[in-house]
Amino acid sequence: MTQSPPRIGGQDVESWGDPEDPIVLLIGRPDALFGDWRRSVRALTEAGRHVLIAPAFDRADDPTGQLRRLLTDLPSRPALICAEASLPSVIPALQVTGAALASCLVISASDAPVQSPPDPAALDLPVRLMARDDGADTSEAEDALIGFLERHAPREALHYHAGSDPRTLRDALGCFATGVTVVTTLDEEGQPIGLTANSFSSVSLDPPLILFCLARSSANVERFRQAAHFAINVLHIGQQPTSGAFARPGDRFQDVAWEAWDTGAPILSGALASFECATDQIVEAGDHLVFIGRVTRARFEPRRDPLLYFRGKYRRLHFS
Ligand SMILES: Cc1cc2nc3c(=O)[nH]c(=O)nc-3n(C[C@H](O)[C@H](O)[C@H](O)COP(=O)(O)O)c2cc1C
Repeated sequence: MTQSPPRIGGQDVESWGDPEDPIVLLIGRPDALFGDWRRSVRALTEAGRHVLIAPAFDRADDPTGQLRRLLTDLPSRPALICAEASLPSVIPALQVTGAALASCLVISASDAPVQSPPDPAALDLPVRLMARDDGADTSEAEDALIGFLERHAPREALHYHAGSDPRTLRDALGCFATGVTVVTTLDEEGQPIGLTANSFSSVSLDPPLILFCLARSSANVERFRQAAHFAINVLHIGQQPTSGAFARPGDRFQDVAWEAWDTGAPILSGALASFECATDQIVEAGDHLVFIGRVTRARFEPRRDPLLYFRGKYRRLHFS
């Protein structure tokens, strides 16, 4: 079942199971992860997982750097299993862009207490602590592990059919990575209003048209309908707090600097790009309204990175 170890990311990696299956990467010696590691690896391959083992991880000079190289070299994002004792090397490798490198992390609890292990809760990916069961019957622990993997690193593509689980449709739509914008206008009393929206799209260059979709449930729907103008502000990577503030109730303009151009619609200072628009069409579309705007003025900042949104989470550009 095992092939001679290939080198991936500069490490010898043992391979078990069908390389076409989704990868589960065991970090470190497998006998430090499972009571009966051969049995657990067999259970994983029988459950349709391709198990890779990087046994020399803990002996590497720079385990954090080695793990990042290994993860970057793999053909798909693996589920990771590591020992609690390896967390000081594993967690730094997954900070910031962890969700781009791995689908989930399973931590095998140590027999011996680990001195102040780093907290994996801050990681941007699902984490599960697994008891290291040294008893004869480990099937319950294996079932729980395989169930966790099925939820967070599904083997099969998920399907939506009209009328079935709307959550699956949302998840399918969430596979389209977007930027994040704050859409603004002035109400009838001249007060600034705005909300976070990722439904922004360019529509036409000639004439210059863009759109965003506003939920009918928005508290601001009538104000946007009445306004003759709106602005779309594309957020940069440092503006995640602004995105959060404009998606919550409260005084959204309290902590942001903004200016007015020709129409008064708030232009957020420092936004990656801003578009001032005259409302051109409002199209009724199910539970949303599509606002199409004719761009009258735009500005962009050429150097900064965008704030991204993908699968329900904020992301950053990641090239390496
Ligand atoms: C990343 C992100 C993107 C969003 N995109 C939209 C969107 O395109 N359209 C929309 O109506 N609401 C969107 N929302 C939700 C609104 O920002 C949120 O419901 C807000 O509270 C609405 O405020 P309002 O009811 O005061 O208008 C998004 C929220 C987030 C965090």
